[in-house]
Amino acid sequence: MTTVATTATSSLVDIAHDLVGSGRGILAADESIGTMSTRLEKAGVEPTETNRRDYRELLVTTADLREGVSGVILCDETLRQRLSDGRIFPHALDELGLLPGIKVDTGARPLAGSAGETVTEGLDGLDARLAEYAELGARFAKWRAVITIGDRTPSRWALWAGAHSLARYARSCQDAGIVPIVEPEVLMDGDHTIWRCAPVTAAALRTLVDELTVACVDPAAMVLKPNMVVAGSTCPQQASPRETATATVEVLGAALPDDLAGVAFLSGGQDPDVATANLAALQEVPAPWPLTFSFGRALVSPALQAWRGDPRRVVDGQAALARLVGRNAAVLRTPSRRR
Ligand code: 13P
Repeated sequence: MTTVATTATSSLVDIAHDLVGSGRGILAADESIGTMSTRLEKAGVEPTETNRRDYRELLVTTADLREGVSGVILCDETLRQRLSDGRIFPHALDELGLLPGIKVDTGARPLAGSAGETVTEGLDGLDARLAEYAELGARFAKWRAVITIGDRTPSRWALWAGAHSLARYARSCQDAGIVPIVEPEVLMDGDHTIWRCAPVTAAALRTLVDELTVACVDPAAMVLKPNMVVAGSTCPQQASPRETATATVEVLGAALPDDLAGVAFLSGGQDPDVATANLAALQEVPAPWPLTFSFGRALVSPALQAWRGDPRRVVDGQAALARLVGRNAAVLRTPSRRR
């Protein structure tokens, strides 16, 4: 990728390094209002604005979270909310030693001209929103493109549309002084084997890197958040952690520049134990960039189940989160020194 070196990007490089190169991972707590409400309802919690806030407050105030977590991704609603002590979330995160992040895409919508594929929206007005988010204290952002594996998907059209939007988003972030997390997610939905996931992920990453290059996105000032290369969730032949790790690093290595700040994997619906085992196996495969986690469900699902909206069970929710953060951070390689 072409690197546009400016003074402004050097602090972005430092933030990107803190996010992924400090021997810690990222907590994804950025579910949209709709998704969060559904998850709360499933756990028997009324999906109110206050309950969404209380749940996020439980997560970010977990004692010593910063030992294993470098930054927390929030959604627009949470970024503007206040903790019960009156501090707005981004300021509280700063004080807790956690980098505040913000999900800036507005979700996946049907892609015209495709057979049921989607493209992620949110580019309209993005520059103005990024300026406001930076003002509110966000230091990094996230945008997720969704790629589905099916008989006739992904199409080249959908791969390109997703990659192009990610590149425009990433460029806007770097111009706004915000580190972009660039997330092309090949979904686990389906019965495909790992050997089908590998070339699809490779094609998605190749297309993405081409678009990032054209947009002059600085790889040292961005974080990639890809899927691990795994079998589909209903495939009878699941891959071992070692197979997953080998296939994943091979695919990433063929597509990504060495000066990328780092890779933070999504969990994508993997069972928390499987996600941790795969992350541990990934550390054993030589790679030029730090490989860490940016898990959502694989970190927070047990915490939500333990809490279930009961103020007396906040400590149980926090204990569940602390346990999973500790387990994942413990398998990471020691912090890399800045190149
Ligand atoms: P999961 O780890 O639950 O896949 O969430 C990560 C994320 O940020 C999805 O956009």
